[in-house]
Amino acid sequence: MAKILYIAANVKTVNDSFSLSVGQEFIQEYKRLNPNDEIEELDLFKTEIPFLDQAILGSVFGTVKYDELYEEHQRKVQLMTANLDQFIHADKYVFATPLWNLGVPPVLKAYFDNISIAGKTFKFTKEGPQGLLLEKKHYAFNLREEIIIPVYRKAKSTAFLILKQY
Ligand SMILES: Cc1cc2nc3c(=O)[nH]c(=O)nc-3n(C[C@H](O)[C@H](O)[C@H](O)COP(=O)(O)O)c2cc1C
Repeated sequence: MAKILYIAANVKTVNDSFSLSVGQEFIQEYKRLNPNDEIEELDLFKTEIPFLDQAILGSVFGTVKYDELYEEHQRKVQLMTANLDQFIHADKYVFATPLWNLGVPPVLKAYFDNISIAGKTFKFTKEGPQGLLLEKKHYAFNLREEIIIPVYRKAKSTAFLILKQY
């Protein structure tokens, strides 16, 4: 039995959103074809995803001891660790997200910051950073309208670059 983590990053309802409706359709079809797999849904706009700050970075890099953090910072570290653990324990990932101004919604970037922890989801090597979960499949539905604002015309969407790298 595989565990699927469905990560949705949109403020809209499923009926109003292309990315969420494609994501939901994929999940329904996946369930039909894999009835024994477990699907966990994570709606990033309804979940507390802490932003990296000085205290969290200090804790992640080991320069500040957890016990020395203020209670509010300990809480953020706990939330971040819970997000990381949930991600690591899944076997497959499905992302549904719109393109917002050539990037992903900020809450999805914050989520990537929560789960991108050296020694857990990637490691540093002589050749550069290397993913530690590469055997796990992911599907990403990143919907856009192809409206490329003239000033950005030559820029590539960071959304695709970010999702591809993870
Ligand atoms: C705040 C915002 C920013 C957007 N920026 C872009 C953009 O840079 N390029 C683009 O092609 N579409 C852009 N769009 C359009 C959406 O990507 C498009 O409507 C897509 O269908 C959104 O997916 P959704 O229907 O799941 O929300 C933007 C939409 C919003 C609301």
